[in-house]
Formats: sequence, C-alpha cells, structure tokens
Amino acid sequence: METKALYIHIPFCDHICSYCDFAKVYYREEFVLQYLERLKEELDTLPHHPMETIYIGGGTPSALSLNQLKMLLNSIDPFVGDGTLEYTIEVNPESATLDKLETMHLHGVNRLSVGVQTFDNTLLKRIERYHTSSIAKEVVRNAKAIGFKHISIDLMYGLPGQTLEDVKEDLQIALSLPINHLSYYSLILEEHTRLYDNYEPLDEETEGIWSDYIVETLSRAGFHRYEVSNYALGNHESYHNKVYWHYENYYGVGIGATGKIDDELISHSRSLTDYLQGKNTIYIEKETLEDTMFNHLMMSLRLEEGLDLDEFKRRYHHAIEEVYKEALSKNLDNHNLVIENNHLKTNHTLDLLNSILLDFLPE
Ligand SMILES: C[S@@+](CC[C@H](N)C(=O)[O-])C[C@H]1O[C@@H](n2cnc3c(N)ncnc32)[C@H](O)[C@@H]1O
Ligand code: SF4
Repeated sequence: METKALYIHIPFCDHICSYCDFAKVYYREEFVLQYLERLKEELDTLPHHPMETIYIGGGTPSALSLNQLKMLLNSIDPFVGDGTLEYTIEVNPESATLDKLETMHLHGVNRLSVGVQTFDNTLLKRIERYHTSSIAKEVVRNAKAIGFKHISIDLMYGLPGQTLEDVKEDLQIALSLPINHLSYYSLILEEHTRLYDNYEPLDEETEGIWSDYIVETLSRAGFHRYEVSNYALGNHESYHNKVYWHYENYYGVGIGATGKIDDELISHSRSLTDYLQGKNTIYIEKETLEDTMFNHLMMSLRLEEGLDLDEFKRRYHHAIEEVYKEALSKNLDNHNLVIENNHLKTNHTLDLLNSILLDFLPE
C-alpha cells in the first residue's frame, strides 16, 4: 500500500499540564536544536516526495522559537508539493504568535489545530493551562485573517468542577469563532498523571447527557459528528486523521511517534536522551492478518461513515461476513450495527463502540 501521510512529533512544552500523558518534555533550547537535527536525519531516510497529508503534533510545536520553527519547516519542505492536500500544525494559544503563524502559512501549512481546552479562565487555571480565553480567541481570529483554510480547536469536557453550564458557554463561544472543525474530548486520566488522585470522573449518565448536548448543539450549527470526538463543518473533516481511521499507511518520526507500513506497526521510544544521541530506538510489531483486520474494523467503526466493506474485501480477500460470522450477525440482529451503502457502521451510537468491539476481538 502506498504511504501518503507523515506525522512529525515535537515533544517540547513550555509547561507540563497535570492531565497529560503524551510524549513530552520541558522546552530547553539546546535540546530543541539537537532534536531538530536528528529529526532532519530521520526525515532524510524517507522517500522525498510530496505527502498527501502532513501533521506536526506534540507536545507543543508552537513552543519552538521562530528560527527553530523555520528550521523544522525547511526540513519538511521536500515533502510538501502540489499533491499535499492537508498540512496541519498543533499550536498552544500562548505561543502561537502572529509571526509564527505567518511563517507556517508561508511554508504551505493549511490547517491549524489550536489547543483551547476551555474558554473558562477559572477552569484553565485549574487544569494549569497558561493561556486565557481572550488569547485563544485572538489566535483563531489571526489564523482566519492570515488565510488558513482549515481551523480546528480542541476542547475537553469533564474538567474538574466543570458544569453543564460551563460546557454550554464553551460551545457558544466556539461557535462564534471562524472555525470549521472541532475536536471535543472527554477528559481521561492515566494513573501516573498528577491530576489523577484528585479527580472524580463524570458518571456514565452525566457523561451521556453532556455528550448528547454537545452533539445536538454542534449539529444545529452545521458541525456533523464524523468520528467519536470530532465534528466538522461541511467537508472540513481531518484528512490526516482519516488516514488513521481508514487504517492506511503513514510514516511517524520523532520520539514517541508511531507509523504503520503495511503489516508493520512501528513505534519510537519516548527517550529523548537516546534520540539526541542518535539512537533512534524503534520497535516493530508485525501484525497477523487477523490483527490487521480487527484493527482496521476497530478504527473505522469510530467513524460515522463506518467501515468500507468493498475496501475490506479488496485488502484482505475475505468478505467481512466470512471473517466475523457470529459477531456480525449478533450485532446486526440486535441493531447495534447496520450496513448502509456497503459500509458497516454503528447504529447512531458511536458511544457503544467498546462493548460492540469485544464481540469481534481475535481469540
Ligand atoms: C496531543 S495534545 C497536544 C496539543 C497541545 N500541546 C495542547 O496541549 O493543546 C492534543 C489534544 O489532546 C487532548 N488531550 C490531552 N490530554 C488529554 C486527556 N488527558 N484527556 C483527554 N484529552 C486530552 C487535548 O484536547 C489536546 O489539545
Ligand atoms: S497537554 Fe499539550 S501543552 Fe500540556 S503537557 Fe501535554 S502536550 Fe504539553
């Protein structure tokens, strides 16, 4: 399978948030410079042709200084061309200055993902974020003025002490801004994060009520829920993330990054020290056909459009009915799943996904 997507991980952050489990470290100038050199070496090992989609994620890519950002974008330039449909950078509001945004746009970046989390200043402080509501709004408006085609924000619900009224307020502000994509995550804490011990997660019923409110409000404003946590206006769905959900190939570079090339899942160690010393520790896991089929199903059922059954048969030479005979008939009979336009999809309830998938797990 052709590989048309590239993910680049920038692990540096100006501060470490109490809820975060991503591969990240504190920003240190000397580390950043070495990291960018290693990253260029790693990028040089990839075939130099334009990718259809590029995603620079973090950590906090906008934590880089303007010059460091230019170094990074120069290293990625060989992968940008006429065939590049989407080029995304994740930014944090407090470091997404106008000059950085303009530089990104000049290098062909056409999609910005702004980590807002909430527009409530008290909640922002409580989760140890360093921006304010007005800075977040200004960044989105600047992005629009500069001409970014796709503007997305990340919000989270279930924050400590957050109420449904706060969620309503966040949605109202979000919808007043010139965005065309929104990722709305429910806060999930891993055990080793600082916030874990002092956090009471939402109970299932409340989570359901909030989630329904979010879906309905966004839908009324024209934002359709195309994936469990993602909403888009018109055709502004994230092309890059759909590569993951369609279980297509992608390269991943930088610490903690993962890639998938055919039946190989490639993951990088999270060790910055190793990476800076030129030891690019990579783990390769070879998938069995059974694993690949299950992972493809699992990823695609996250999408509202579901799993493309023609594509499934084309890739694995088996029809879905042959592979998952019992699980499929059980979940079609109880209406948890439906087949529409030759796509297998969850029946209006993306939220039941985990329990449905248990039936399909390989033995
Ligand atoms: C990989 S993070 C990095 C983006 C950027 N550094 C930031 O913090 O805005 C991407 C998004 O994941 C979401 N996220 C991070 N930690 C989370 C958690 N514990 N639970 C749910 N979503 C989380 C946030 O919405 C965040 O914007
Ligand atoms: S949430 Fe974002 S800014 Fe905060 S530590 Fe994680 S990656 Fe860094």
